[in-house]
Amino acid sequence: MGSSDEKAGLTRRGAVGSLAALAAAPGLATAGTAHRPRKAPAPFLWGTATAAHQIEGGNVHSDFWLAENVKPTVFAEPSADACDSYHRYGEDIALAARLGFNCHRFGIEWARIEPEPGMFSMAALDHYKRVIEACHAHGLAPMVTYSHWTVPRWFAARGGFTQADSPDLFARFAERATKHLGDGISYASTFNEANIQRIAAILFAGGGDQLRQALTGMIGACAKASGSDRFSMVLFEPAERVEPQMVKAHHQAMAAIKAGPGSFPVGVTISMQAVEAVVPAAQARAEALRGALYGPWLDAAKGADFVGVQTYTRLRVGPDGIVPAPQGAEMTEAGYEFRPEALEDTIRYAAKVTGRPVIVTENGIATNNDARRIAYIDQALAGVKRCLADGIDLRGYVHWSLLDNFEWISGYKQKFGLVAVDRTTFRRSPKPSAVHLGQIARKGRP
Ligand code: FCB
Repeated sequence: MGSSDEKAGLTRRGAVGSLAALAAAPGLATAGTAHRPRKAPAPFLWGTATAAHQIEGGNVHSDFWLAENVKPTVFAEPSADACDSYHRYGEDIALAARLGFNCHRFGIEWARIEPEPGMFSMAALDHYKRVIEACHAHGLAPMVTYSHWTVPRWFAARGGFTQADSPDLFARFAERATKHLGDGISYASTFNEANIQRIAAILFAGGGDQLRQALTGMIGACAKASGSDRFSMVLFEPAERVEPQMVKAHHQAMAAIKAGPGSFPVGVTISMQAVEAVVPAAQARAEALRGALYGPWLDAAKGADFVGVQTYTRLRVGPDGIVPAPQGAEMTEAGYEFRPEALEDTIRYAAKVTGRPVIVTENGIATNNDARRIAYIDQALAGVKRCLADGIDLRGYVHWSLLDNFEWISGYKQKFGLVAVDRTTFRRSPKPSAVHLGQIARKGRP
């Protein structure tokens, strides 16, 4: 492959010319990519985000599938068919393109690609190749998440990321997947919300003893069902048990992805909240909490091509710790404060601390009132504009989510989608917010 466009797998697969410039943008171009002078600035990335387990359906070889179906479980309901996107991805991608987006974030499912240790499914890899090709055919830059929390059931049964050799296994998966798919990828991230255990610790703390007991019961039932004494799920481990291995896994997977084929920016995405002190005396505490939320991950991102910022709300901190949302504040269906301004704060923070280009890889709201989604989007994008006006190297905005989908332990109740999905017929119905954000996307730079 000759030109950098070809290396990015874009022109070869029929992507529109302007998208080819995306992967070759300065700062995001990767080592070994030949720089060519660009006439026009790279287009801003506008996309929607999805995750394999949340939309595909029938992810039977994954740890989550097991956890959703054992008793007791903390899941409100099982993922079951989800949005049937494993079969309907073509419809999803065509819809995203029609709405006006130029980028599509989705996950490749390790549990499908390696359903048994060392057994790599060519059929599953070919499936994801077709997904990538569909993106290019519709002018969408494929942004691939290598791990969005789910792992193969066998990997969880052997102790998941608590085990010292887990980075090697994750890197082996990343290498095999990249060999098959790398040619067509435009952007990738290793882990989705790599710091999730740190966030979960705060969120689950609110659930008290009852939730802790249910979690222990569920993990015990999963262990029993898989004949394991160390069943481990990314989402439910304390950070100290998995983080050192996950940091290593990120670096090893990044090296495996960089080995190609393909030459595209690779990042890691981080769950970020605006952290605000409610009184000046709480400032130090707020700073400490911010550090605790991110742990080693902003540092890890310094060595990546970009940092993926994923923000939904803010945390307010008083002298004694986190305090609830102000009285009368609007709350979303996910139970957190409606706070679109949080995005601006986290973009600025991520850019300052990492010095890397930023892509907003998730931002959105759980609501049954689509007018509030539109308001949320507009207010969040006002912050995006201010960041760009201040010269922050922000490359794109990817909204969570394209579809109403399986929201992990909450099941299907929370609606984050720009597009509604009928739970029986799987019919997709774009909401006014989908048209609204699509129209903004068509205009180009915010
Ligand atoms: C993020 C997750 C994503 C989705 C949204 C609502 O933390 O990355 O999968 O569940 O929250």
